[in-house]
Amino acid sequence: MKQTVLSLLVTAGLFLTGCQETPTSGSAIYARSCGTCHGVELGGGVAGPLTAGSAAAARSDAEYLTIIREGTTGMPANRNLNDAQLDALVAYIRVVQAN
Ligand code: HEC
Repeated sequence: MKQTVLSLLVTAGLFLTGCQETPTSGSAIYARSCGTCHGVELGGGVAGPLTAGSAAAARSDAEYLTIIREGTTGMPANRNLNDAQLDALVAYIRVVQAN
């Protein structure tokens, strides 16, 4: 019983965290950190698309992490995302690329 209450509290805590300033879902992180340049649903805008078939889609997850952290020509480095946020972000990008 104690275990159940505890795990419910942890779940509620995670849920509430998702509602705070720092987004934890990949799509929210994308919209805030990438979408302004790479467009809605990776479609491209002031920067190129990341969609299936693009040069960006052929890159490995490791390359994404390096590009995000270090930036690249015309793209600023983003060091504000923690490992969990980076994982969620790349996972979201892969889901959109696969659909
Ligand atoms: C200020 C605008 C800007 C933001 C914000 C931005 N990028 Fe970029 N990004 C660029 C530009 C400019 C390039 C260079 C090539 C291009 O135009 O696609 C680039 C290149 C890339 C590439 C390599 C593309 C290729 O053709 O190999 C990837 C991958 C990428 N960005 C992912 C991201 C992700 C993920 C985020 C969010 C964390 C992000 N970018 C945020 C502007 C931006």
